[in-house]
Amino acid sequence: MQTTQSGILAEETKLARYLAFTIDSEADVVSALSTLAAQVDLSNTVVGLGESLVKLLGKDIPGLVTLPAQSGRGIDIPSTPTALWCWLRGTDRGELFHRSRQIELMLMPAFALGDVTDSFQYDENRDLSGYIDGTENPSGDEAIDAAIVQGQGNGLDGGSFVAVQQWLHDFDILDAMQTNERDDVIGRHIKDNEEFDEAPDSAHVKRAAQESFEPEAFMLRRSMPWAEGMEGGLVFVAFGKSFVAFDAVLKRMLGNEDTISDALFKFTRPISGAYFWCPPVKGNKLDLSALDL
Ligand code: HEM
Repeated sequence: MQTTQSGILAEETKLARYLAFTIDSEADVVSALSTLAAQVDLSNTVVGLGESLVKLLGKDIPGLVTLPAQSGRGIDIPSTPTALWCWLRGTDRGELFHRSRQIELMLMPAFALGDVTDSFQYDENRDLSGYIDGTENPSGDEAIDAAIVQGQGNGLDGGSFVAVQQWLHDFDILDAMQTNERDDVIGRHIKDNEEFDEAPDSAHVKRAAQESFEPEAFMLRRSMPWAEGMEGGLVFVAFGKSFVAFDAVLKRMLGNEDTISDALFKFTRPISGAYFWCPPVKGNKLDLSALDL
């Protein structure tokens, strides 16, 4: 039986839209969430709840915290928590637009729609820097082990935790780099996507190597590029059975322990960041029983 929101484990999608909601009318939150749980189409939408919303309901989801703002050498990682997050997946911008409106209406007046970010697939899963993103993602049972809560009981099993950050690239900096310099930033050759041993220790794939952490820091990255006007970057989205792996990798990227910060920061910075709990599914509806809903 399907107990996980299907978009988490599904194939890549051509287009997507991210909606971030804040709480507008506390008295209406319970009924809005019940409406959302019953009506949202989970075949093409993933829903996440922030810690502030869970607290408002007087509940606690073990492992759900708020992303802490943090810093490295000249690097700020912002924390911009929000109550509710939806990841709409699709192939048609018009359909995504209308579906956004439907979800907004389901949630009114309890929730107000804040940031809306449109994203898209670039070639076969390239970041706008040109590098293929997601190569070392776990798949099959390993993806489930990395991303899905198991063994914690009804209402929690099948759920997931997601870290979401919008990154803004500086394309002038990227353009000024030679190909070998860019390859050194990522730690892979753009021409064939191969990792290379001689990459500097600051190379992103060396900093983030999932097997090099104790415990191993596997996560399921489902990031997609975004662009608006002449600005763009990556909506980094990583699902985990907890936030432990994401937190460990981000801390290593910041380089506070060994003074080696991730070379990615040369050309890109996060401009937002938040954590959410993605409830499990029961009978094609969001299972909010952990919140007594
Ligand atoms: C704009 C921001 C980022 C870009 C452009 C980016 C890009 C990439 C690319 C091109 C790869 C190599 C291919 C692959 O295995 O997917 C990669 C790997 C990886 N990234 Fe990122 N990344 C970004 C941010 C992050 C963040 C914030 C984290 C986690 C805190 C992260 C975690 C990882 C992990 C775990 C891997 C696989 C490492 C391995 O085990 O080989 N990335 N990323």
